[in-house]
Amino acid sequence: MDTDPGVDDAQAIAFAIAHPEIELLGLTTVFGNAQIDVTTRNALTVLEEFGRSDIPVAKGAAQPLQISRFPAPDFVHGDDGMGGLYLEPPKQQEINETAAEFIVRVANEQHGELSLIAVGPLTNIAQALVLDPELPNKVTALVVMGGTVDAIGNVSPVAEANFINDPHAADAVCSADWPLSIVGLDVTMKIAFTDSLFKKLQKKAGKVGDFLWRSSRFYVDFYSSLSQKISDERACAMHDASALVYLVQPDYFTNVSGPACVAKSGPAMGQLLLDRTKESYLLPYWEGRPNVSVAMQVDGQAVLDCFVNTLIDFN
Ligand code: RIB
Ligand code: CA
Repeated sequence: MDTDPGVDDAQAIAFAIAHPEIELLGLTTVFGNAQIDVTTRNALTVLEEFGRSDIPVAKGAAQPLQISRFPAPDFVHGDDGMGGLYLEPPKQQEINETAAEFIVRVANEQHGELSLIAVGPLTNIAQALVLDPELPNKVTALVVMGGTVDAIGNVSPVAEANFINDPHAADAVCSADWPLSIVGLDVTMKIAFTDSLFKKLQKKAGKVGDFLWRSSRFYVDFYSSLSQKISDERACAMHDASALVYLVQPDYFTNVSGPACVAKSGPAMGQLLLDRTKESYLLPYWEGRPNVSVAMQVDGQAVLDCFVNTLIDFN
């Protein structure tokens, strides 16, 4: 799992650890919700909090492939990237391998059995693709949390954070012939992770549930301050964890397929451009591109039930 922890990344990591059908083989870290040293420290700390410091963490990209890094969104995730919890430094350290090297090595070791989940900017995945251009044929699935087709963007009118943070990487990932599914704002903004659910987790999901409650306070405050409300109750959107639920329950989602590219500059930078008609267009950007499967509708209640019940059962 490639991640930029991040409050909602921690939720996704919790689900990956708790779900009986997922064996989490490692975390690779990327800049995004905070700088790379912070996201890497958070990955290590979160694993320790969840009692799984045996899971390796490989540190990845500190900046995007070509553009300058945008400022970290400390007003969303806190300046520690973990909702202002300011956790103790981790005891473990990252392994002596880059994120891209780790991804390529594990994909080769797993002989086609690896599912790759990316819930941060796609820099490490694009770098892994350069290291091993055959990578798309070596994974069972690549599930990406990022982008938006019809929903309003969360960092510009048309762009989602993970895609705009490295649009060149996002476009490179969309150009390769992976078994690629995208779980973006079209669905994640419809999944309201309410305070009632966080409270339920705090009561019934032990230490992990308590951590998710505490780490989400600042994040839910941010979501509650937005003009675009996702629920009548205090709530945040379920972004990264939705990609993990997609991995085990794809039937909760309705997808549309087509070639896709990502705008790399200008006011549309980071916009996911999905060709849903496969007509021939005036512009050539979609020509020769493989189909990408993008989640457009979701049974949000089923996703929330799956997440909450998985964590409660794990306790
Ligand atoms: O747009 C939501 C995504 O951006 C999530 O991955 C969140 O963690 C942030 O990085
Ligand atoms: Ca993330």
